[in-house]
Amino acid sequence: MILVTGAAGFIGANFVLDWLAQSDEPVINLDKLTYAGNLHSLASLQGDARHIFVHGDIGDRALVDRLLAEHRPRAVVNFAAESHVDRSIHGPEDFIQTNVVGTFHLLESVRAYWGGLEGEARASFRFLHVSTDEVYGTLSPTDPPFTERNPYEPNSPYSASKAASDHLVRAYHHTYGLPVLTTNCSNNYGPLHFPEKLIPLMIVNALAGKSLPVYGDGMQVRDWLFVKDHCSAIRRVLEAGTPGETYNVGGWNEKPNIEIVKTVCALLDEMSPRADGKPYAEQITYVTDRPGHDRRYAIDATKIHRELGWKPAETFETGIRKTVRWYLDNQAWVQQVQSGAYRQWIDQQYGPRE
Ligand code: NAD
Ligand code: TYD
Repeated sequence: MILVTGAAGFIGANFVLDWLAQSDEPVINLDKLTYAGNLHSLASLQGDARHIFVHGDIGDRALVDRLLAEHRPRAVVNFAAESHVDRSIHGPEDFIQTNVVGTFHLLESVRAYWGGLEGEARASFRFLHVSTDEVYGTLSPTDPPFTERNPYEPNSPYSASKAASDHLVRAYHHTYGLPVLTTNCSNNYGPLHFPEKLIPLMIVNALAGKSLPVYGDGMQVRDWLFVKDHCSAIRRVLEAGTPGETYNVGGWNEKPNIEIVKTVCALLDEMSPRADGKPYAEQITYVTDRPGHDRRYAIDATKIHRELGWKPAETFETGIRKTVRWYLDNQAWVQQVQSGAYRQWIDQQYGPRE
C-alpha cells in the first residue's frame, strides 16, 4: 500500500480517485482537514476498504510513526500543504508550520521507517514530494521556461515555504540516502478545485451573478495543466523516476489570466447562458493587484518526457471544457464548500477590493 498525505485536497483527492480506478493497491490518506480538505470529494470511496482515511497532521511524529509501522507502505506521496498564495500573504505562519516544519517531521518519520526496512522493501521504497513551479520565481516574457536547473528564487511566503521543503527533501537524499523524488508542477485546474483559486472562482462567481475579480492588468501568465495529467505524471515518476532527481511537470499551455477568464465566460455562455442573454464577460472587474505578484511561470517539461515518456493527455481546450462541465454538474459539491469559513474568507479577501 501507499501513504498519501493531503488527499482530501484538490490534487490529492483526484490522485486517490484515479489511483483506485486503476489499481487495487490500498491508500492510507493522512489529512488534517484544514479549510481546503474536503472528504465530500472522496464520497464515492465510502465503504471502499482500499481507502483508509486518517485525520491528522503530517507534523505529528507519533501518529505518522505509528501509521508507517502498522501499514508498512512501499511509498509515501506528500501532497499535504497550505497552497494558496493570497492566504500566505495575509497569514504566512500556517505555511511555515505545515510546508516547512510539517515536511521536516514527515521526513524524520519516513527516514526512521525506511532505516528499519531491509532487502527489496528498502531498495524499492520511495518518498515522492509534490511541489510547484513557483519555487523558481518569475520569468520575463522572453525568458525560456523553467528547467530543473533553474535556481530557486521564490517570491511569496507560499513559494518560499515550498522551496524550503524541497531543499529539506533534497538534503535527506544527499545526507541520509533517503530515496526521494520531487515533482515541480505548474498551475493545475479541473474537478474538485477549491473555489478560491482562479478558474473555479470565476465559474462559481459567474453563475452566482457576482463580479469576476481579475488582479492588476490580467496579463500575468501561468502554464495550466489538467489535474488528471498531473496525477498521471506523479504515478509515472513514482514508478520509474530516479531517486534524488526532480521532474518539472507542465502542460505547455501558457496563457494570460484574462484569456483564461474570457474562455471560462465563453464556455458558460454556451453551456449555461445567463437568463438575460448577456455575456458573462460583462461581470469581469479589474481589482487591485496581489502584492509581489509573479508575472510569468512556464515549465519546460522535456526531462519527464524524454526520461519517463510522460506527456499530458489533455489540451487546454479539452481540459477547460471538462472542468466547466464538472462545475455545472456538481453544484451540490460547490454549495457544500461555500458554507462556513469559506464565506468569511471570500468576504475578507474581496469585500474591500470591489
Ligand atoms: P489543497 O490546498 O487543495 O489541499 C491541501 C490538502 O492538505 C488539504 O486537504 C489539507 O487539509 C491538507 N493539509 C494541510 N495541512 C496539512 C497538515 N499539516 N497535515 C496533513 N494534511 C494537511 O492543495 P492542492 O492544490 O491539492 O495542492 C497539493 C500539493 O500540490 C501542494 O503541496 C501544492 O503545493 C502542490 N501543487 C499545487 C498546484 C496547484 O495548482 N494547485 C500546482 C503545483 C503543485
Ligand atoms: P491562483 O489560482 O491563486 O494560483 P497561483 O497564484 O498559485 O498561480 O491564481 C492564478 C492566477 O490568477 C494568478 O496570477 C493570480 C490570478 N488571480 C486573479 O486574477 N483573480 C483571482 O481572484 C484569483 C484567485 C487569482
